[in-house]
Amino acid sequence: MLNIAALSGKIQEAFGALDRHHLNGGQRLAVKYFAVAMILFLAQLLFGLLAAIQFVWPGFLFDLVDFSVNRMVHINAMVVWMLYGFIGSVYWFLEEESGTEIVGLKWGEIAFYVLTGAVVIVVLVYLLIQTGPGNDATRWLVNEGREYIEAPRWADIGIVTVMLVFFYNVAGTFAKGRWSGISGVLTLDLVALAGLYMAGMFYSTNVTVDQYWWWWVIHLWVEATWEVLVGCIMAWSLMKLIGARRRIVQTWLYIEVALMFGSGILGLGHHYFWIGTPDYWFTIGGFFSALEPVPLVAMVVHSIYDAGVHRFRSTNHPALGWIIAHTFGNFLGAGVWGFMHTLPQINLYTHGTQWSASHGHLSFFGAYATINIAFFYLAAQRWRGNVWMGGDLKDNGWKWKWSMILLNLGVMGMTVALLIAGYEQSFIERAVEGSTWGGYFAAQNQPWFVQAMLWRLVFGVVTLAGALLLTWDLLTIGAGETRLALVLEPEEELAAEPTVAVAK
Ligand code: HEM
Ligand code: HEM
Ligand SMILES: [Fe+2]
Repeated sequence: MLNIAALSGKIQEAFGALDRHHLNGGQRLAVKYFAVAMILFLAQLLFGLLAAIQFVWPGFLFDLVDFSVNRMVHINAMVVWMLYGFIGSVYWFLEEESGTEIVGLKWGEIAFYVLTGAVVIVVLVYLLIQTGPGNDATRWLVNEGREYIEAPRWADIGIVTVMLVFFYNVAGTFAKGRWSGISGVLTLDLVALAGLYMAGMFYSTNVTVDQYWWWWVIHLWVEATWEVLVGCIMAWSLMKLIGARRRIVQTWLYIEVALMFGSGILGLGHHYFWIGTPDYWFTIGGFFSALEPVPLVAMVVHSIYDAGVHRFRSTNHPALGWIIAHTFGNFLGAGVWGFMHTLPQINLYTHGTQWSASHGHLSFFGAYATINIAFFYLAAQRWRGNVWMGGDLKDNGWKWKWSMILLNLGVMGMTVALLIAGYEQSFIERAVEGSTWGGYFAAQNQPWFVQAMLWRLVFGVVTLAGALLLTWDLLTIGAGETRLALVLEPEEELAAEPTVAVAK
């Protein structure tokens, strides 16, 4: 017989209690954003897997949810969950960083529900309606047809409104409380980030013009404004996690921001090689985008140096682990994998092959998924009552360590599989067959390509396993923990022994 009392006792023991009183106003809102982000992350992986299965068995779910739909949901879910994570992270530290309460928390709450409602409707329309006739009604109600930001026009307007509320809360709260280097950079960056979204809303029947503006959102987001945003988030979290000095993280932040904008803005040109824009973009795009890895190296040096100075002692090991994974992932995925195909002489052969998908996976995961996961751990810790999350966790930390291993192994495995497919395509389709229609199909049927698609599927399953373990860990880590978090004061940087307090 099933013993209900014992079972519920076990569940209680595993999941413990979460108490919102441990959180300030902004943090209560942040955890809502984090929860939706995590759900969308899992949805992203699910639809990625469906699309990957279709590469191997093209008839799978044909006419029900086609590849184009799965792919669209996969990458839109990604962009949206990352935005949720970023908004949540900023709300997370807004009150502490400004030293005051958020000016329009109620509006922030309303915006959260409006945004989430809109996301649910958009996904349902993607899945159930899927396509419409090529007219304005489709653009307004079904799908705008711009990769990554396909949301229909009504949702765009909703998103802009929600971003305005968010911006008001950020700028207004800092203005009421106090400003810092981090908050100044962050606020200016949010103006740029939200402003660029508008560039994706121009409408033109000329594909060159349309793509020209669309890249302002996509490239200038991920290679400029999002990078600066994660720079701010990393600076703040290094202070919290290892007690890094504000003066030091801010100096790094300024250097990184200057380099990032310096190379990232004109680096935009690497998307203008083949879309019908003037020839000078070859030189501009090739040169400036080749410099883009430089700030990413700076970020690795910055985080490792700071963590090293503090002997890798941290208030939250999983979060620090993911911050370090972020700096390496950003450097490898964006810097190295981006650099590989950014010169026009090389891009001529690699453009639009699986090479791009290889880079797309490692960069988005390495630069942005990782740092969001770090914040999920910070949230879990505080929500439990700021409990111990150092080395010797109750379960020895096997869940966070294994989920981290599986996720990184899975994404790295997919990345390598796609890179092999990309090499093969560049070689057979482009170099040997001269970019012909027949060349395209010859490349798609080569064993190296076919096998790579299978391996991508295998490593996709590994990635999903990692994400499921991560979800389990986030729900249970710190449950029943009685030790309080390590206390690290910024000024006692190299103080002899960490202090461990025990909760009553
Ligand atoms: C975290 C930052 C970055 C992210 C998230 C990212 C993501 C992506 C994605 C998803 C694509 C494919 C776009 C499409 O669907 O057409 C792409 C294309 C590209 N990226 Fe990045 N990227 C980043 C940074 C970089 C950097 C730093 C470089 C250069 C050093 C770079 C070079 C390129 C190039 C050349 C392409 C065009 C590929 C083609 O011709 O098909 N990226 N990037
Ligand atoms: C279960 C794991 C995953 C699987 C099976 C998977 C599968 C796929 C597939 C089949 C595509 C379409 C590729 C094409 O059009 O040729 C795709 C695109 C993409 N995926 Fe994933 N994916 C997974 C996880 C991820 C993760 C974790 C990220 C980043 C955080 C990501 C980011 C992307 C991006 C940016 C694209 C567009 C690439 C481009 O346009 O070049 N995916 N994925
Ligand atoms: Fe780019």
